[in-house]
Amino acid sequence: MSVALRYHEATKYRPETIGEHPPLDWSRQPLPYKPYHGWRAVELAPLLPLDPNPFTGEAARPMEGWRGCTLAALARWLYATYGITGIIQQPGQPLYLRAAPSAGALYPTELYVAVRSWPELPAGLYGFDPLRHRLALLREDPGCADAVTAAAYGNAELAAAPLIVIVASVFERSRWRYRERAYRRVLLDAGHVIGNAGIAAAACGLRVAATAAFCDEQVEAAIGCPVGEEGVLALLAVQAVDGGRQRPAWTALPSPPREGEPTLAGLHHASALPAERPRLLGSDADELPLADSHGWASGPRLLGEGSSGPNPLALDPLRTIIRRRSCRRFVRASLARDALARILAATYVPERVGCDEQPAFARQSLATFIVVADVPGVSPGVYYLCPATLELRPVARREPREQVRFLCLGQDLGGDAAVTVFHTADLQRCVHRYGDRAYRYLHLDAGILGQRLNLAAVAEDAGASGIGGFFDDQAADLLGIPRSQAIVYITVLGVPAGSTIVI
Ligand SMILES: Cc1cc2nc3c(=O)[nH]c(=O)nc-3n(C[C@H](O)[C@H](O)[C@H](O)COP(=O)(O)O)c2cc1C
Repeated sequence: MSVALRYHEATKYRPETIGEHPPLDWSRQPLPYKPYHGWRAVELAPLLPLDPNPFTGEAARPMEGWRGCTLAALARWLYATYGITGIIQQPGQPLYLRAAPSAGALYPTELYVAVRSWPELPAGLYGFDPLRHRLALLREDPGCADAVTAAAYGNAELAAAPLIVIVASVFERSRWRYRERAYRRVLLDAGHVIGNAGIAAAACGLRVAATAAFCDEQVEAAIGCPVGEEGVLALLAVQAVDGGRQRPAWTALPSPPREGEPTLAGLHHASALPAERPRLLGSDADELPLADSHGWASGPRLLGEGSSGPNPLALDPLRTIIRRRSCRRFVRASLARDALARILAATYVPERVGCDEQPAFARQSLATFIVVADVPGVSPGVYYLCPATLELRPVARREPREQVRFLCLGQDLGGDAAVTVFHTADLQRCVHRYGDRAYRYLHLDAGILGQRLNLAAVAEDAGASGIGGFFDDQAADLLGIPRSQAIVYITVLGVPAGSTIVI
C-alpha cells in the first residue's frame, strides 16, 4: 500500500482514541515566524495604504501608478497574501494573526522570494519578514530564480516570471501540536496562503500561476532550507497581469513509488519528485464526474442566482482579505440562498464572476459535498455539488446539525453552521495517477478552495471557518461515501454571533 494511503488511515481521528495523546508542553512551542534580526532588508511597510500604517505609525501616502511590476504592488500583494492583519495581546508574546488562516494559529508556512528582475530589488533570494513587513536579503544571487526554475523542470510560467515566491513549511510549528496529522494541516494552511495570493493578484495588477511539480532536493538546495525541518510545498510565478501568458503542460506530476513510514516526515519524503521530470499519467479530464457515475437526481442550480451585480469578493478583494477572520461562533440562523450562490460562484467558478483565473494543482481530483442545515429554499440534507453548474444534487435528506457537530470533534461551529462544505477524494485513484505526491496536491487545492470560501463568505458579511479536526470515517458516513474515500477538508459557513474581527 502507498505511503499516502497508509498515512491517511494512520492519522484518522477516531471517537475511541481521540484525546489519548499526552498534554501539550507550551514551553516547547516553536516561534511561528522567522525573526530575521540583523539581515539587510528591503522595507515594504511604508508602501502599504493603511491609515495609520501599523508598522510605521505614519499616515498613508497617496500613490499613483503602483500596480504591476512595482515594489509597491509587491508590498501590497505580499501583505494580502500572508501579512499580519490582527494582533491578540496575551501574556508573553502577542499572537500575530495573518491574512491567511492557520490551523491552531501556528503559521507553519514561510515565504521566500527569488527575484530575477524586479524594480528596486537586487536579484537574489529574500525571506519574507512579516513582523516588519519587509524582505530580508538572504543572498544576492542573479542565478537563484533560474535555479528554482530548473528544479521545476523548466516550467514555462516560472521561466518567464520576473519573480518567484517559494511557499515552504516549517513542519515542527504544527507537528508540535497536531503530531503526525500535522502534514494534512500544513498543506491546507499553505493552500490558504496560495488562495489569498490568487485572489489578491489582479487587484495589484499581477498574475500568479502555481506549480507543485518540482524536484524537492534541488529546490530546497536552491533556497538553502534545512532538510527534514522545512519543506517546499509550492512555487508561485508572479508577473504583471498584462505580461504574456505561458501555459505549462502540467502543474502536478507523479512521484515514483517509494517505501517509507506513514509519518509526516515519511510521507513528505515518499512524495518527493526526482531530478528527472516524471511523465504525466493520463489527465484529470479523462475522469467521469462523480455526479454522472452515481446517477444522483438533479437538484437546485445555483449558477447565476443572486448575480444582479458584481460578486462582492471581486469588488474589493484586498479589503476583504484584510478584514477576514475565522468565525469563532455562529448563531443558528439561515444563510440566504442567493448569498450561498455567490459564495459558491466565487469559489468554484471564480473566472466567471470577475475573480480571474485562480491557481490550482490537480483540482479535478477533489469532489465537493454541501451539507445544508438552514438555507431557505433548499431542503436540509446532503448534496453533491457539480462544480461547473453549481447544481446541488440531492444525496440524502436529513437534519444534519447533530451529526456535523459530532464529526467536527464536538465543535459547536459544526452544529451551528448553516452550511458545511466537505472536500473529498478517491485517494487510491489519485495515488494511481500522481503517486504519493497526490496527497500534497489534494490538500493544497482544498486549502485554496477553503480560502475562497472564507473570503467569499466574509464579503457577504457571513462567517466561515476551516475545520481541520474531524472524525474521518463518521464524515464519510454522513456523506454516504465509502470510508476508503478521503475527507480532505471541511469548511463551515453561517451567521456569525457578533463581531468576528480582532484588531
Ligand atoms: C487548516 C485549518 C484548520 C482549522 N481548523 C479549525 C478547527 O477545527 N476549529 C476551529 O475553531 N478553527 C479552525 N481553524 C481556524 C483557525 O483556528 C484560525 O485560522 C486561527 O486561529 C487564526 O485566526 P484567523 O483565521 O481569525 O486569522 C482552522 C484553520 C485552518 C486554516
